[in-house]
Amino acid sequence: MDVMRIHALKQQLEKQIAAFSPVLLKDFPIKTYMELIDRYPKVGNYTYMSPEVKKLADTISRSCSSEVFESYHKCLLLSFIERAQEKSEFLSLPGEIRTYYSLNFERIFHDIESGVHEAGFYLYPSDKFLKDLGVCSLRLIPAGAQKLNLSPLPADFLFRNGTSQFIIGLAYVLFELRGFRPLYNMHTDSHDTHLMSEFNPAGWRNFLVRAADLIKLNPSVKGVFGKTWFVDPQLEKISPRLCYVRHIFNRNGGRFFYLGPCTSGIEDAVYKSPTRKKLYEYGKYIPKEYLGVWSGRSLIQWAERQKALMQ
Ligand SMILES: CC(C)(COP(=O)(O)OP(=O)(O)OC[C@H]1O[C@@H](n2cnc3c(N)ncnc32)[C@H](O)[C@@H]1OP(=O)(O)O)[C@@H](O)C(=O)NCCC(=O)NCCS
Repeated sequence: MDVMRIHALKQQLEKQIAAFSPVLLKDFPIKTYMELIDRYPKVGNYTYMSPEVKKLADTISRSCSSEVFESYHKCLLLSFIERAQEKSEFLSLPGEIRTYYSLNFERIFHDIESGVHEAGFYLYPSDKFLKDLGVCSLRLIPAGAQKLNLSPLPADFLFRNGTSQFIIGLAYVLFELRGFRPLYNMHTDSHDTHLMSEFNPAGWRNFLVRAADLIKLNPSVKGVFGKTWFVDPQLEKISPRLCYVRHIFNRNGGRFFYLGPCTSGIEDAVYKSPTRKKLYEYGKYIPKEYLGVWSGRSLIQWAERQKALMQ
């Protein structure tokens, strides 16, 4: 992205901030905020906030209006974008992943420039803001149909579905994954239009091949995982065209573990589909979440076969 454009937009925002809170940027330099985020552990969800960042964010929010704090956070995102493109961490990524980062930076820049988002978007705990912050600070990796961050595999799935899930799950972790951490946690980012345009069978296959390439570059990463409602076997009858993700995993070495219904899963499942909404309202469908896991070793083998087929 053009650094001059970023710089100009940042200056514009800084002027707006100074007009309402003349000392805010001096009292709470963006650089300090960035340094605190840089100290986050490498393995952790994009929603993580350290106690230091919480304290700083609370202090800033008490010192200015929420509107000014949003402008401050926009400056923070732009400062991260400005810096990202020079970081060795960024430059050593595969070319395709760098391209996805660039597309995301463009989108985030454009959203700030055109002011498309409703009030509150750039404040905690807005999930979309946290995703953008994760991307700009290079903690969340845009890889096509999904975004990835390093995370431990949450062990609670072992206790969600009786003894057999406990035994099979533990054996999978010990003998196939060889440990609980770190894995790439997969996330759908529904406000990223580019990501959504790749949410289809080919897009998912290409994303999983990219995830395998990332694991080859980072062999300590044990695999990928994600929690979602859209791999629920009930969808075989209700939304058959959405079953391809479950099929790719199931047929090629990935595993699913039952988690159960949860409020956010239900909201997401009925959000876009009139069919699922109606069935849910009639009590004929209760969305259930599953944990999908695929070990790096098996994913890489599958990806190599895919690459051979694509040649
Ligand atoms: C997950 C998600 C991206 C999948 O979207 P999708 O691939 O379009 O598939 P959906 O089954 O959700 O489609 C919803 C509607 O779009 C239309 N649609 C989707 N694919 C279509 C296709 N190939 N042809 C025609 N219409 C289609 C249909 O109207 C469908 O509604 P219906 O089920 O009543 O027929 C989407 O459901 C979503 O954004 N959900 C909310 C956020 C979310 O769940 N995130 C994941 C959290 S883990």
